Amino acid sequence: MPDMDNFKEASAFGVGTPQKTVGFPLKGCGNLDWGMKNRLARIFNPKDGRSLMLACDHGFIMGPTGGVERIDLSIVPLLKYADCLMCTRGILRSVIPPTADIPVCLRSDAGTSILTNLNDNVVIAAEEAVRVNAAAMAVMVAIGDELTEAKTVANLYHTVDIGQKYGIPVMGVTAVGKQMTRDAKYFRLATRMCAENGANIVKTYYTEGFETVTSSCPVPIVIAGGKKVPERDALELAYRAINDGAAGVDMGRNVFQSEHPAAMIRSVGAVIHKGLKPAEAYEMYQDLAK
Ligand code: R5P
Repeated sequence: MPDMDNFKEASAFGVGTPQKTVGFPLKGCGNLDWGMKNRLARIFNPKDGRSLMLACDHGFIMGPTGGVERIDLSIVPLLKYADCLMCTRGILRSVIPPTADIPVCLRSDAGTSILTNLNDNVVIAAEEAVRVNAAAMAVMVAIGDELTEAKTVANLYHTVDIGQKYGIPVMGVTAVGKQMTRDAKYFRLATRMCAENGANIVKTYYTEGFETVTSSCPVPIVIAGGKKVPERDALELAYRAINDGAAGVDMGRNVFQSEHPAAMIRSVGAVIHKGLKPAEAYEMYQDLAK
């Protein structure tokens, strides 16, 4: 019990100063619970509602592909420039320092490798996501893939149940089957399905007509960078995505396969948070790469 002797009389009632109700800057997230919002606010900068997520989960399906052979050497030095790290629990426990001050979007499903067909069929246990202090959980949804569509939608649905129970946001990752056409019509369907099934964030790919994808998806969208392209083109991609309504990027190869990864991630960050145009960002990249 607190000591009641010399207890200070209450007087700081702030009469006349109405309590502020602080809004929440992220699209479609205003009605979420405190823990969800707190985690989302760690991923998306509350000042601009945007995020630079650094993805390095490629090994869960591809093995030690170029740039992620040694995550301790290639990715860890970049953490200070990212708003969020997307990785698997294996890499988290084996390589990422627990002292790193970065929220983690945890790859939370698994199933197959690049040697077989797309088919994630297991999702993380709730306790495991809590144990590693996940700021978000990412699961793949394969819309349009006859073999795995139903299973992966069920994975998302189940992961959202976990997320709602423990206050952990879920990111739906739209995987595009080889037979699918990567156009705005397809991405409108895939992203909207993720949101309707409870995803709090959706990761997808940029395409012509992307503004119709972001406008018809009621939660924030981030784009994957995709395969490595010249730095100037990757910066243009990030700019266009933001300009067309994305809340950020979840970029991997175009950062860690760049000749100058630190210069690249800082330049992508400047596009996202400082509104640099592609030419300005490329100039920044060239300066930093010297
Ligand atoms: C995709 O599902 C993977 O999880 C990657 O995280 C994602 O594709 C982003 O990486 P990249 O920018 O290399 O495409």
